[in-house]
Amino acid sequence: MHTLTVDALNPAFLNVQYAVRGELAIRAEEYRVQLKTAGDNHGLPFNRVISSNIGNPQQTGLDQPPITFVRQVAALMEWPVLAELAKDVFPADVIARAKELQAEIGSVGAYSHSQGVPFIRNNVANFIQERDGYPSNPNHIFLTAGASAGVTLLISMLISNPRSGILIPIPQYPLYTATLAANSGVGIPYHLDEDAEWATSAPDIEAAIEGAVREGITPKALVVINPGNPTGALLDEATMQNVVRLCERYGLVLLADEVYQTNLHSRSTHPFTSFKKVVRALGSSLPLVSFHSISKGVMGECGRRGGYFECTNISDDIIALIYKLVSVLLCPPLSGQIGVDCMVRPPRQGDASYALWKQETDTTHAALAQRTKTMSARLNELPGVSCVDSPGALYLYPRIRLPDAAIEAARKAGKEPDTFYALGLLEDTGICVIPGSGFGQKEGQYHYRLTCLCPGVDEYVGALERFHRKFVERYGGL
Ligand SMILES: Cc1ncc(COP(=O)(O)O)c(C=O)c1O
Repeated sequence: MHTLTVDALNPAFLNVQYAVRGELAIRAEEYRVQLKTAGDNHGLPFNRVISSNIGNPQQTGLDQPPITFVRQVAALMEWPVLAELAKDVFPADVIARAKELQAEIGSVGAYSHSQGVPFIRNNVANFIQERDGYPSNPNHIFLTAGASAGVTLLISMLISNPRSGILIPIPQYPLYTATLAANSGVGIPYHLDEDAEWATSAPDIEAAIEGAVREGITPKALVVINPGNPTGALLDEATMQNVVRLCERYGLVLLADEVYQTNLHSRSTHPFTSFKKVVRALGSSLPLVSFHSISKGVMGECGRRGGYFECTNISDDIIALIYKLVSVLLCPPLSGQIGVDCMVRPPRQGDASYALWKQETDTTHAALAQRTKTMSARLNELPGVSCVDSPGALYLYPRIRLPDAAIEAARKAGKEPDTFYALGLLEDTGICVIPGSGFGQKEGQYHYRLTCLCPGVDEYVGALERFHRKFVERYGGL
């Protein structure tokens, strides 16, 4: 009898790591099941698991309310007769939108154009043009099953041999290292500067490029996440220009992950600027691929799997090749494509849905800003903790100094010290965070990432504070 063994599989897959759903998340899930099945006899020191590990706003327990407009359009697209059956329920602009989309799409149960419904791509192009003030070509836009699908595709195309490298910010969102590992490419790390609020430095990137070239690696592309995950940092235009010039000099493709472009808290001193705008303003011919998603912002429609990427300065033969590859997968989910349409064409002032849409989006923005502020202020009060009050995205990435005895205990337990700390936090409080080792950090430094999505901040930050003080004390103080 033949059995399938792991060593018969693509060895590259064994190197894939994705901490966001790794050891901590798996253990948290076990606790959640234990709480549910064992009732009052669960024997755990907490009554609920707090999923601070993942930017999945509508997840049970985080419960960010969906935007009504999005759900109403989706409902009518799923079952068009609802517009007749529940005439008084749906505002006029929702009914008009659904009719318009139905005329373009037909049934959501059918495959669409592989690149995405042309009408929706046209709307995406208008959105980009309005945002940046530069034209956008709908034929250079690909709708995707979330930004992840686009990133994965582009990385797999760019890695042409095992010496191909892609520059990755450290800390980074682990989609990048995971996809590189799966495609047997080399990640070339460049460090963000924590002391300068996680700034991106062109000279540091250049040093990373030079180092990689000396080792025989061919840098092919540079990834920038703006606003950053896990740092929340927001790039200023001068830095962006330097990055563009650097990519030109070294012949790199720029992969701009801009999925958090609307997640800006009030503290930010400048607005979000897209790399597309900077590239156009400089008159640059740099090849650029920009990614966006319906999973973040205040829509938080992660499960619909919607996003797009726009190609700038990418030749027609490469666009044709991308088209060929996406056509193998037939098309992105229609639910996601409809979500993208709602994201790029929200209700406008004067539309029946506008007031509610405005109230809902303002409320979520305010909650995220308030939680970020409260959490960073309280974390900064803790011994050995420093936390940049991030201007954007959905996360904080505090740095923790750990007592030597704790580091020793972690090593004995066969864990990274920050994983050891995060496991202790989960076991004591039910709070699930992701250790910095999952995102990358400088040797000898420790961090963890937590999201700003959990309601009840006072309660759970209180539990986190108590755990931290106890942990530091248990291991002999700092
Ligand atoms: C920086 C970044 N890029 C891409 C993604 C992927 O998002 P999605 O595939 O849901 O659009 C995420 C998800 O958290 C992210 O943080």
